[in-house]
Amino acid sequence: MSEETHKAETARLDLPEKAVELPVLHGTMGPDVVDIRRLYADGGVFTFDPGFTSTASCESKITFIDGDRGILLYRGYPIEQLAEKSHHLEVAYLLLYGDLPTAAELEDFEERITRHTMVHEQMHYFYRGFRRDAHPMAIMVGVVGAMSAFYQDSTDINDPEQREIASFRMIAKIPTIAAMAYKYSIGQPFIYPRNDLDYASNFLRMCFAVPAEDYEVDPIIARALDRIFLLHADHEQNASTSTVRLAGSSGANPFACIAAGIACLWGPAHGGANEAALNMLREIGTVDRIPEYIRRAKDKSDPFRLMGFGHRVYKNFDPRAKVLKKSADEVLGLLGIENNPTLQVAKELERIALEDDYFIEKKLYPNVDFYSGIILEALGFPTSMFTPIFALSRTVGWIAQWKEMISDPTQKIGRPRQLYTGPTPRDYVDIEYRS
Ligand code: ACO
Repeated sequence: MSEETHKAETARLDLPEKAVELPVLHGTMGPDVVDIRRLYADGGVFTFDPGFTSTASCESKITFIDGDRGILLYRGYPIEQLAEKSHHLEVAYLLLYGDLPTAAELEDFEERITRHTMVHEQMHYFYRGFRRDAHPMAIMVGVVGAMSAFYQDSTDINDPEQREIASFRMIAKIPTIAAMAYKYSIGQPFIYPRNDLDYASNFLRMCFAVPAEDYEVDPIIARALDRIFLLHADHEQNASTSTVRLAGSSGANPFACIAAGIACLWGPAHGGANEAALNMLREIGTVDRIPEYIRRAKDKSDPFRLMGFGHRVYKNFDPRAKVLKKSADEVLGLLGIENNPTLQVAKELERIALEDDYFIEKKLYPNVDFYSGIILEALGFPTSMFTPIFALSRTVGWIAQWKEMISDPTQKIGRPRQLYTGPTPRDYVDIEYRS
C-alpha cells in the first residue's frame, strides 16, 4: 500500500456466524475501497462480483476515470488538454514515467523508441505462414506472441533493464507489426520503417507506400491519427488491460502478456466495436432507416445493439468521443469529404438516440468507437485495420500498467475464486449402468 492510499475507518460485515471488520482505503480520487483481502481468512466467505462491476483489482497511479462526470485523466492531466497540446509519444512517456518529459528527456525517449522500429528479418517469414485472407488482428495476436521467440534477450521480467528494453521494443515495433499485418492481408510487400518520420507518419507510410511509389504523408492526416493513438493510449483497468495484468501476474514475459491483451481487445464488446460501429453505420446507409435500427436496439428479443453506444464506466458522455466528434468534423472538412454519408448517418443517429427515453434512462452515450471509425475510414484505412490501430495505441497503456504491476511489492498471482453451483460429490457409475 503506497503513502497515497491510507487506511481510515473500517466497514463492518455481519455474517451469520460472526462480524468481520474490514479496512476502508482512500485513494487520491474516486470511491473509497473496502479492503477484503482478509475476508476469507477471517470470515470464511468469498465476495461475488462477475464482471468486476464493484471490484478494484489493483492499486494504480496511471489513469483516472470518473464515469458519471465524463472525466478521463492520464497521470492527472485531462485528456482534452493532452489531445489538444500533446502527442502520442509524449503521452507514452507520461504514462510510463509519471510526469511530462523535459525537452531533453523527450528527445532521448523518442530517439530510443525510434531505434527499435525494425522487426527481426526472420519475422517476415513468420508472416508468410498466415493465410492471405486472415484478419490483421489474428496476425497481430500471433506475431506479438511470437516476439518472445525473436527477442529472448528481453524476456526476463526480474531484470529491470530487460523490462525497459522490452517496453521500448513493444512500443516501437507495434506500428511496424500492424502495418505488416495490413500489407500482408492485401498482398503488398512490407515497407520498412523510416526513422526520420514521427510515430504516426511512419505508420501511415508503412501502410500506404509501395516500393514502386513513395507515399507523401499529409500532416493533417498524421495529426488526426496521432490524436486517435493518444486518446486510446490507456483506460485504467478495462478488459484487455486487466488481461495483460492477469497474464503478467504469473510472471509471463511482456510479449506474451501483450498478445493476451490483443486477443481480449479483439472482441466486439471492447476494441472490436469500432469496426462493428462503422459496419453498422454503413448497413443503416441512409438517415431514413435510422428509426428502424433504434427500434431494434430497444427490442429485448433482438440481440442487436447500437454499436459505439454505451460504456461500462461512462454513464455520461465519453470525453474521448467529444474530442473525436470535433476531430471528425475537422478532418472530413479539411479532406473535403464532409458530406460523407456515413458521417451524416452517425450524426443523425446520435441526435435521435440522445433524445430517446430508452437511451437517456440507461445513460447510453456514444463512446470513443463511434467516431474513431469514421475518422479512420476518411484517413484511408479499411475497417479490418480499426481494431489493430486500437491495439497499437493501447500498447503504451498495457506496457505502463504491466510495469507498474511488476514493481508493486503487494502484487500476487491473480487467482479469483468462484461460487460453485455444480454437482455435490457422487460416485462414479460404470458405463453399463448409465441411463
Ligand atoms: N444498444 C442498446 N442497448 C444497450 C446498449 C447498446 N449499445 N448498451 C447497453 N444497452 C442496454 C442493455 O441491453 C441493458 O439493458 P437492460 O438493463 O434493460 O438489460 C443496459 O443497457 C445495460 O447494459 P449492459 O450490457 O448491462 O452494460 P455493460 O456495462 O455490461 O456493457 C457495453 C457495456 C459492453 C459497452 C455495452 O454498452 C455494449 O455492448 N455496447 C455496444 C458495444 C460497444 O460499443 N463497445 C465499445 C465499448 S468502449 C471500448 O471498448 C473502447
